Amino acid sequence: MGKRVVLAYSGGLDTSVAVRWMIEEWGVEVVCVLVNVGQDADSSESFEDIRSRALAAGAIECVVVDARAEMANEFCASAIAANARYEGKYPLVSALSRPVIVRHLVDQARKFNATAVAHGCTGKGNDQVRFEVGTHALAPDLEVLAPARNWGMTRADSVDYAKKWDIPIKATKEKIYSIDENLWGRAIECGAMEDPWAAPPEEPFTLTNVREGSPVELVLSFNQGVPVAIDGVDMALEDLIKVLNDRAGSTGFGRIDMVENRRVGIKSREVYECPAALAIIGAHSDLEDLVLERDVHHEKARLETRWAELVYDGMWFSPLKEALDAFISETQRHVTGDVRLRFEAPGLMRIVGRRSAKALYDYGLATYDEADTFRHADSEGYVKIFGLGVKTWAARQGAKNATPPKS
Ligand code: ARG
Repeated sequence: MGKRVVLAYSGGLDTSVAVRWMIEEWGVEVVCVLVNVGQDADSSESFEDIRSRALAAGAIECVVVDARAEMANEFCASAIAANARYEGKYPLVSALSRPVIVRHLVDQARKFNATAVAHGCTGKGNDQVRFEVGTHALAPDLEVLAPARNWGMTRADSVDYAKKWDIPIKATKEKIYSIDENLWGRAIECGAMEDPWAAPPEEPFTLTNVREGSPVELVLSFNQGVPVAIDGVDMALEDLIKVLNDRAGSTGFGRIDMVENRRVGIKSREVYECPAALAIIGAHSDLEDLVLERDVHHEKARLETRWAELVYDGMWFSPLKEALDAFISETQRHVTGDVRLRFEAPGLMRIVGRRSAKALYDYGLATYDEADTFRHADSEGYVKIFGLGVKTWAARQGAKNATPPKS
């Protein structure tokens, strides 16, 4: 046997075919790694079933890793602190799971003395970038193989290939959607949605269906930027995300329909459902409005955009991302408090209250009633000097802006 390769295995058609194809075409030994990042949420298959498929396809071993807590506590928690939404919308569902998977791929490559890792991505997407750049960042010596970029098979060819090798796949030639899911949500591509004008069909959504007619109200509590409780009940972050996916999703909240700029220069129509992610980020950023000092808050908003781009681009393990994390984590020291969320079918969320012992909101300063502690007279000189430059400018150029247009 030639070299040994560790493959990121999902159990889907492409990665199952990849096992056999690499054995046949490249003469390698294949070890599969199946990383549980929360994609079991609604699947009809157990990880053990998926594991046997890898072995049926010819893998010498298939290691199943439970990375749900890691995904939540490290990857989702950082994304929450950064209010991360790529292009202002997408909470990085797939982009967050790839570095988790990469870390376990590299770990297993070491355990099995492999010289290469492999993934099942095509050449058109972001995930190949995330797998490869991530691997290079953690293990510069490992080779990265991408059989799906080499084999030139259509989906129908792959189905035939699986049949020929008796690989028990569930996919059919006319499978419509490509779905990637984890704790943080679901990304739905293909089918009718490839026409950006066509409204998405109901069918592929599993988290965001209206199951609850009356409004759902809940209090989400944060400790130093991390969500820790719902309605006063403490929960591990992975559980809290699941509960919120269910409760917020039950009112239809959490869908995103957007045209997105991929790293590889392609615009694509993307549809997501991520009720917990959107609810948590919405609440977290609202709590920051209450507790962050203005300059810190404004600077953070600028850096958040960069953070989301870096993570989207597969730069989770990179020096700039680490430096931004250091800044962001410093800002989270006082992000402790409660946010009241109200969900109303179909698909609406409003934040109706927030409170914090760390609030910079000062009632005495903000109020207009007799509790007012603000010294109004102090503003006179302040405003004069603030506006001095504009006043001087206006005096030089006459009253040209002062004449309303003729009606
Ligand atoms: N466009 C999204 C992203 O790049 C979703 C990708 C979904 N991945 C997939 N293999 N279906 O993060």
